[in-house]
Amino acid sequence: MLRLQPRLPDEYTSAQPAALEARIRAAKEALGDRLLILGHHYQRDEVIRWADARGDSFNLARFAADNERATDIVFCGVHFMAESADVLTADHQRVILPDLNAGCSMADMADLDQVEECWESLAAITDVDRVIPITYMNSSAAIKAFVGEHGGAVCTSSNARTVLDWALGRGDKVVFFPDQHLGRNTAFQMGYSAPDMRLWNPRFELGGLDDADVKESTFLLWKGHCSVHQRFTPDHVAAFRAEYPQGEVIVHPETSHEVVVLADKVGSTERILEWVDAAGPGAVIGVATEIHMIQRMAKEHPDRTVLSLDPLICPCSTMFRIDEPHLAWCLEALVDGRVLNQITVDAETAEWARVALQRMLDLA
Ligand code: 13P
Ligand code: SF4
Repeated sequence: MLRLQPRLPDEYTSAQPAALEARIRAAKEALGDRLLILGHHYQRDEVIRWADARGDSFNLARFAADNERATDIVFCGVHFMAESADVLTADHQRVILPDLNAGCSMADMADLDQVEECWESLAAITDVDRVIPITYMNSSAAIKAFVGEHGGAVCTSSNARTVLDWALGRGDKVVFFPDQHLGRNTAFQMGYSAPDMRLWNPRFELGGLDDADVKESTFLLWKGHCSVHQRFTPDHVAAFRAEYPQGEVIVHPETSHEVVVLADKVGSTERILEWVDAAGPGAVIGVATEIHMIQRMAKEHPDRTVLSLDPLICPCSTMFRIDEPHLAWCLEALVDGRVLNQITVDAETAEWARVALQRMLDLA
């Protein structure tokens, strides 16, 4: 998706780290309580240290929804998170994304036209009132609004099972956008098996399925994935276990099912942090998630071994776009009374997206 991030003035791109640090500190002090900086766990160290609150995507949505005092919320994360924060905050609050190019390739794998087409195809062959659309948080506000308007809800990696249980209490079938892996892993966790699931490929008519596939399935899983988590393979787990037979394997549910079945624990970024915190001195933990978070956990726990299951570095290139120059740039503009990179969701989209997000918040 095209987003237009203006080039930063040279005074930011050529500033030394110490100068940037001093400028960000001064801007934060000047803005005081009107500013809230939220940081996702995948942010790099020099950015996350400025966050007033850190979290997984669910907790960050909660922080945004619960904070009424700050008028300016600077979101150090990616575009869909900032959109959700805008939807959940009050009219007097503004959400700012320091770099507009911080998108999410998975969220971009489902656009509204494709989702509407999918829904129309389903309506032609099945009772669509019994189909509940669920979207992962990693989707545009437009998809969240679609889901809200059609009786569904948002979920995150920390509550997918709760939301899918709710959905199947209301209907017979779920169509799950856009991460096939989170959908599949959760469906297996709920006791379903492979024949209950079908992959919906939006490039093909009827998702590349036939009528019987659609009618027989309980889960229609959108063909989307995270390029960061899809890199982890069963061979990585095998290599880790061969080297550290006493080690523990913890993976994010965006990882493929063939890896998830080999893991000891599967959870959101927040859960992964909690498990590593609780592991105790001497523990050896192989993790499948974004590398900045893994490296930070390793640094914060020098008494245990925390490593990436994939020895080749595995960063989220869009999370990585948020850096200190962009943070200093948008904070100093706020001090000067200018709002840069505000993320706004139009009122109609926001209304239905809020319904879908609120259903999730009410369930959790
Ligand atoms: P969490 O909800 O676990 O923070 O995950 C968000 C994400 O984008 C993982 O790739
Ligand atoms: Fe999107 Fe994957 Fe990056 Fe998460 S890690 S923000 S799903 S690209």
